[in-house]
Amino acid sequence: MEQDRGQFSSRLGFILAAAGSAVGLGNLVAFPVMASKNGGAAFLIIYLLFVAFICYPVMLAEIAMGRRTQRNPVGAFSMLSDRSKVWRLTGMLGIVTPFMIAVFYTVITVWLVVYLKQLATGNLDTLSSDATFSNLVQEPSLFGYASLLLAAVFLILVGGVKGGIERLARVLMPTLAVMLVVLVCFVLTLDNASAGIAYYLVPDFSKMDLGVVNGALSQAFFSLSLGMGILITYGSYFSRTDSIPSSARMVATMDTSIAFFAGLLILPAIFAFDPNTNTDDLSTSSVGLIFSFLPKIFLSMQAAVGYFGASVVALIFFLLVFFAALTSLVSIIEIPISYWIDEWKMTRKRAVLTQAFLLALFAIPATLSFGLSEFFTNFTNYGGLSKSFFDVVYDVFYETILPLVGFTACIFCVYRWKLNGLNEELSVGDPRYNGSLMQRYLNVSLGTVVPVVLFSVFVSTVYTIFI
Ligand code: PHE
Repeated sequence: MEQDRGQFSSRLGFILAAAGSAVGLGNLVAFPVMASKNGGAAFLIIYLLFVAFICYPVMLAEIAMGRRTQRNPVGAFSMLSDRSKVWRLTGMLGIVTPFMIAVFYTVITVWLVVYLKQLATGNLDTLSSDATFSNLVQEPSLFGYASLLLAAVFLILVGGVKGGIERLARVLMPTLAVMLVVLVCFVLTLDNASAGIAYYLVPDFSKMDLGVVNGALSQAFFSLSLGMGILITYGSYFSRTDSIPSSARMVATMDTSIAFFAGLLILPAIFAFDPNTNTDDLSTSSVGLIFSFLPKIFLSMQAAVGYFGASVVALIFFLLVFFAALTSLVSIIEIPISYWIDEWKMTRKRAVLTQAFLLALFAIPATLSFGLSEFFTNFTNYGGLSKSFFDVVYDVFYETILPLVGFTACIFCVYRWKLNGLNEELSVGDPRYNGSLMQRYLNVSLGTVVPVVLFSVFVSTVYTIFI
């Protein structure tokens, strides 16, 4: 059974795969808009502080748990607690969360596939009309696209850690970076681009309040793929001769840089479209922005580069978003697969088939949540709003639960596994870790500030969304 677990071929393989997971819709769309709405560089500074002082310690803890145990999240919590039932159950959160995130992420990625097809067939103008998106989400043909996408994703996953996940990230991540740079260079040549840059980068501290700080932390947390069991699992595929602290630093740097560059792309593009844009009117919902607003921006570029040119720019952008979404989707589905392999002793092939079946089971109602089925569209009510099945999955598993899972990981490492164990694991492959400033900070913060901050964010999110 051992050969089924797999391992990354090198440190770079791990870094690219983890960055592939981290770089997603959150970087390319949510981050730029959040930054511009909430005080530009002022937001950026807060965000960076959170990445360095709150998220980075959690990253180290998650990766170390995985590498020490060579297990999925449930197995990791269970092994490090001498098979405590309570901790095993807590580890379950690290399987259910990615399982459910995969459900709605699949739906969004399918929409991206439809947009790519439309752009490739010259239909940028159709995509820019207001009705298109609301009609598209109700098309029964979505199930055809979903089958194609999932077939590709599960084929990659059958390829395993090295031959599937790592190989995909090795091709797509550099491509994505090059495409991003090309698009940024192009957009910066447009008239009025500088207004967007100013909006993005001039700090305005007057916008800071508790809500903004809260939002910055949640954004940093999910952008780095924390609290989803991903880094525990990827840590279990990470070599014992390499350094966890320096690899995690690279992943955090790549993720944050891509988010930053996405801002240099999106905001100048928006301001070139309309120099009087009021960013307060931009939706932070990545979905609304990508699917409804950005096609209009791209179409407006035809004045400068013609319809064909504008379509090419739009196609490159949507490919970029699709690549980012695909690597994230693959990473998230790998977590339950690793659980089936470790805990149920399945072969990888069988684990992949099981997961494909289960994912389809939940992805169908999520796809039906946009009007195709009345039952799933008006599934329930809370916070004074009618919510679809998709909304429930999104609100619970994406908006709310991640800081809670991060919180449990910190508490677990400090009070159950104990700092000695964690420190020992972090110094494997990194002789300089022992006695470093980082180690001292981690040992103080992981049982105090970090969990307190994460728990506060969790409580305040529950309050805002559900009450
Ligand atoms: N880190 C991703 C982002 O920034 C979030 C994500 C990761 C979503 C993995 C799904 C799966 O968008």
